[in-house]
Amino acid sequence: MICFGHRGASGYEPENTLRSFKRAIDFGCPWIELDVYLVDDHIVVIHDEDLSRTLNGTGRVSTSNFSYLRSLDAGKGEQIPTLEEVFTLVDHQCGINIELKGPGTAAAVGKLLASTRYPKDEILISSFDHHKVALMDPDWNRAALFEKASSEYVDRALALHAVSINLDRHLVTEAVVVKAHRAGLKVYVFTVNTKADLQHMDALAVDGVFSDFPDRVLAMQDKH
Ligand code: G3P
Ligand code: CA
Repeated sequence: MICFGHRGASGYEPENTLRSFKRAIDFGCPWIELDVYLVDDHIVVIHDEDLSRTLNGTGRVSTSNFSYLRSLDAGKGEQIPTLEEVFTLVDHQCGINIELKGPGTAAAVGKLLASTRYPKDEILISSFDHHKVALMDPDWNRAALFEKASSEYVDRALALHAVSINLDRHLVTEAVVVKAHRAGLKVYVFTVNTKADLQHMDALAVDGVFSDFPDRVLAMQDKH
């Protein structure tokens, strides 16, 4: 069961900040997960469209300009990072799952990955908006995210040539995992934080979990 540091190590540090990603890397997390929007041709890393939960600002990502976003405090003095800054920080120490949230992100991320010649096995692209996933070059590892129950997880992922279905933890059953594995798909589950939930996912033989507390996942693996 591999670990994706959800928005970095967001149980400990301000989510989706360089500080949070560094903490996940320091824990030895093999993957981090982050969320992106496109603002003034910059790919910015933030989860919510509304700025008020994680920043000392107001308004929306889509109606803000880049310099305003960069003037805000994302917690502990951190700025909203750009995806390029995350690449520099990570420096191939872990994989990066880029979740496409905002309009225009598929093309912009594709362009950046191509220009940086990013290694394909260090990137996983995902989105709840499967049209965005379909826009990415199929050479990139891609995942279909689901937050609502459906009988079509596997069919939709296969149609997208995805490598995995990424499911809300409440949607995961043994039957879903077996069906996905038979189709050659991995099953990655979000967001799994408690010991009981981690053990439950392990028992269901999922392939990976997104956790705000990557150290908890890694500690569990050490005991295996
Ligand atoms: O990609 C897994 C998970 O991050 C999806 O949900 O709302 O945390 O972006 P959310
Ligand atoms: Ca996410």
